[in-house]
Amino acid sequence: MTDQSSPSSSGTPRRVAFLGLGVMGYPMAGHLAKAGLDVTVYNRTAAKAQQWVAEYGGRLATTPREAARDADIVLACVGNDDDLRSVTLGGHGAFAGMSRDAAFVDHTTASANVARELFSIAREQSLHFIDAPVSGGQAGAQNGKLTIMCGGDAAVFERVAPTLRHYGVAVTLLGESGAGQLTKMVNQIAIAGVVQGLSEAIHFGQHAGLDMPRVLEVISKGAAASWQMDNRGNTMIEGRFDFGFAVDWMRKDLAICLDEAKRNGASLPVTALVDQFYGDVQALGGRRYDTSSLIVRLRQLSA
Ligand SMILES: NC(=O)c1ccc[n+]([C@@H]2O[C@H](COP(=O)([O-])OP(=O)(O)OC[C@H]3O[C@@H](n4cnc5c(N)ncnc54)[C@H](OP(=O)(O)O)[C@@H]3O)[C@@H](O)[C@H]2O)c1
Repeated sequence: MTDQSSPSSSGTPRRVAFLGLGVMGYPMAGHLAKAGLDVTVYNRTAAKAQQWVAEYGGRLATTPREAARDADIVLACVGNDDDLRSVTLGGHGAFAGMSRDAAFVDHTTASANVARELFSIAREQSLHFIDAPVSGGQAGAQNGKLTIMCGGDAAVFERVAPTLRHYGVAVTLLGESGAGQLTKMVNQIAIAGVVQGLSEAIHFGQHAGLDMPRVLEVISKGAAASWQMDNRGNTMIEGRFDFGFAVDWMRKDLAICLDEAKRNGASLPVTALVDQFYGDVQALGGRRYDTSSLIVRLRQLSA
């Protein structure tokens, strides 16, 4: 942490840093630049950061620490708990470069434990930490329509929320540190069961010889409707999975859910089963397939 106070800690943040320009982070950071904020980006693979600066302007930093210097808010969207630790902690980490009272907002889907750990390290250094995982996928990031689930201090949340609304339609504080990640776990548990149910429904309908695009058009107006049916039903029928939210990421998320459930005592039998089914999809070569690819193993089983 540097000594000087955050340049506009009491006013509207003008200067922000964004760490991690992947499928999600690249367009999210782009919305901040389009909104007129002064954005400095860092990406482990420098070519992506160079491409981002060529597209949006702004500045490029070679370490998270350098990116974080003088920023009112430092935002990140990297892969998992360890990736998050590597961009926040240590000599080159963002915390070492942040000004007193600046806030770090993490959009990675990670554990509630790492959120609480970084919240308390940040507090010891007179910094703030908000866990803020997102839902809405690549399209949500590109269209600026993400759901953002936050955990942390209310006053800090109020300070960062206007910035998050540049790419979020629903930006909500759910509780203290870790509550955002716990909410994202609820989201992923709900998705796992729905995708398996939809896979079995489509698989059954195709075996029954039905015109499945027509069937989905009809039943999506009734009680079986879901985001998965509306956005993934037809591509599941066609067997197209080369887009979207990768199976590898979903397994990372379900491992976090199952681990947390061990701690809090919740019983998650379907989630545990679907996690194993995703393992089968990985073994069939589908590590980068979209999450809707659960139907692939049903087709394989009945081939
Ligand atoms: N994709 C989705 O639909 C979606 C939806 C909701 C939530 N999420 C979550 O959002 C996060 C990012 O997903 P994504 O799809 O954007 O992933 P991605 O395209 O693989 O991007 C990951 C980003 O993190 C960086 N990174 C990874 N490990 C790092 C490390 N150790 N140090 C520094 N940078 C590191 C990568 O840098 P490099 O460019 O150098 O690899 C890249 O910029 C994940 O937690 C994911 O679960 C994704």
